[in-house]
Parts: sequence; C-alpha cells; structure tokens
Amino acid sequence: MSAPAGGPSAGPRLTALDRAPRADAHERDENYQPVFVNARRKELDELLTRYPTKMAALLPALWIVQEERGWVSEPAMAEVAAVLGLTPAYVKGVVTFYTMYHQHPVGKYFVQVCTTSPCNVCGAEDVVRAFLKQTGASDLGATSPDGRFTVIEVECLGACGFATPVMINNEFLESVSADRVPSIVGALK
Ligand code: FES
Repeated sequence: MSAPAGGPSAGPRLTALDRAPRADAHERDENYQPVFVNARRKELDELLTRYPTKMAALLPALWIVQEERGWVSEPAMAEVAAVLGLTPAYVKGVVTFYTMYHQHPVGKYFVQVCTTSPCNVCGAEDVVRAFLKQTGASDLGATSPDGRFTVIEVECLGACGFATPVMINNEFLESVSADRVPSIVGALK
C-alpha cells in the first residue's frame, strides 16, 4: 500500500504560512527597554501631527530609534510597528531596504565610502583600504576592536565630481584621497 498523499503522517501538510507564528521579537527579548517613553514619546507624538497617517511617519520614527540606540534591533522594529499600527514584517522590510538604518551595532564613527564606478576609477578602493588600515577595522562592515569605527562601501553619494566622497556619521567629506585618511582618522580619535 502506498503512503497517503500528504506524507506518512496522513495529516494535513503544514506550509510555512500555516505554522504557528513565532513569538514576536518584542516578546522574546525580556530585557528590551522601549524607546518611545518620556521625551522620545513626546517627540514621536509631535512628529505624528505632521504626517497624514502613522505609517507616513515610519522613516523618522526609525531614525529616532537609531539616534537613541545606535541601531535598529528586531525588538525595536517590533516596538515601532506597535506604536505606528504596522506589522513587524512591514517595518523590517523598510529597515532592510534603506542602508541608512543599521541592523547591527556599529562603531561610534560610521564611515561610508562611495566605490561606485566614477569614484572607483579615481581611487576609491585605495581610500577604503586606507580607512580599514587606519581604523583597525578588520573588514568592511566589521567594527574596530576599540568600538569606534565601522567602514562600509556605499553606492553613489551624489558627489561624483568630488571623488572620493566619504560620509562619517552626518559629516560629508569631498575629494578624499588615501593619503588624507590618516589625518582624518587621527582627528576623530
Ligand atoms: S559615483 Fe561616487 S559619488 Fe557618485
């Protein structure tokens, strides 16, 4: 006799969508401290008055989280989803789409170097190597052992005529060459 359709258990096959949902990240992290309390809650409430819907305030709400915590953790995404009436999956989709949101802790100084073609032919990769060497970060996206620097490559920063442009946190530097990097990093230590 052949096994019944659906497998030896003969029970209904569960698809990924049928399985019981995981406890969401917010519930799983018992130590999570909400961002939107006290002054940050007031800031969010004020922000919401400037947008037609709660959903429209998602990007600045995530920015508040990143300012407060340095990155956007899954429990923080769940909190944002709860306060804005969205699903955690929707919020995660937005966080993972925009490179400006950090999904992991990063260094105090977040260094973004444009390596798109126009900057690449002008020596952007040398600039990247110089930042990795000077900061002690072992690789792209890794944080230096002292916790101060994370270096990444990014796509066009909109300053193609000023290769190589570099953003360090919110500061924009133009025409950075590899030999300028030691003094730039030195000034940040
Ligand atoms: S390609 Fe580097 S800033 Fe545009």
